[in-house]
Amino acid sequence: MTKVGIMGAGRLGTIIAEAIKAGLAPECELIGIASRSLGVTPFDLADRGAAVIIEASKPEVLREYLVGLLERGVSVIPLSTGAFADEGFLEEVKEAARRGGSRVYLPHGAEGGFDLAATFSLLPGMKGTVVQYIPERAKMPDGNPMKALPESFKGTALEGFALSPSHLNVVIESAIACGGFENTMYETRIARDGRGGFSLELENDAAEAVITIKNKPPVKGIPMMSMIALSAVSTLNRITQPVTF
Ligand SMILES: NC(=O)c1ccc[n+]([C@@H]2O[C@H](COP(=O)([O-])OP(=O)(O)OC[C@H]3O[C@@H](n4cnc5c(N)ncnc54)[C@H](O)[C@@H]3O)[C@@H](O)[C@H]2O)c1
Repeated sequence: MTKVGIMGAGRLGTIIAEAIKAGLAPECELIGIASRSLGVTPFDLADRGAAVIIEASKPEVLREYLVGLLERGVSVIPLSTGAFADEGFLEEVKEAARRGGSRVYLPHGAEGGFDLAATFSLLPGMKGTVVQYIPERAKMPDGNPMKALPESFKGTALEGFALSPSHLNVVIESAIACGGFENTMYETRIARDGRGGFSLELENDAAEAVITIKNKPPVKGIPMMSMIALSAVSTLNRITQPVTF
């Protein structure tokens, strides 16, 4: 069994912990959750033998611990991937992983299709576009971060991310999957069907693809947040199960 720890027990971290406890990551055992209130740090989880830590806290916390964890040989599945918009930090992280023999595994978060994006990026002419569908503002509850986004924006991944760094982690992880910030764009479009979501549009000199994920109205109380949280659990399965893809 692979020993797993969690950093951050808020909305996503709680769903992830419950999923692992319910057996959705059958090759893994949850050994602890880092918590400021209990005085447990991610390094304590490493000392207890965690081989993988799932991060669901915030970008500043990821920045504080990631390099140290990787150097200790602990692999990390980060959700606060906006931290990698700083390319200098991303390079530091790669070096730390090489030194520690560990890895950073990016989950697909709110989007998908990273395996296909990685293949597309191996051929000339690669261009990736993250499209965010924005429902009509009047129908969005107050406090929804999408309310602050422009309805028809087009720019580079980093320009898009700058519009709302706390909510556009997905743009950064997609850009890494697409092979770099320079060939990845971000666009917003009005959701004519009223449902928020994302498409990842891929193109190179050989092919084109579009992978779309759209919110359903919550059925049986399952919010879209569960899909994002479970992307970390499916990533855990991908790196621990005997037959993987
Ligand atoms: N990659 C994606 O597609 C995606 C999608 C949604 C959210 N996110 C990101 O995932 C992260 C978690 O989201 P959330 O909605 O669960 O947030 P949340 O605010 O509900 O939970 C964050 C938790 O981290 C804890 N925390 C803060 N500092 C800590 C520390 N030093 N040690 C341990 N725990 C600490 C907080 O107490 C809180 O419980 C955020 O950074 C969010 O932006 C990523």
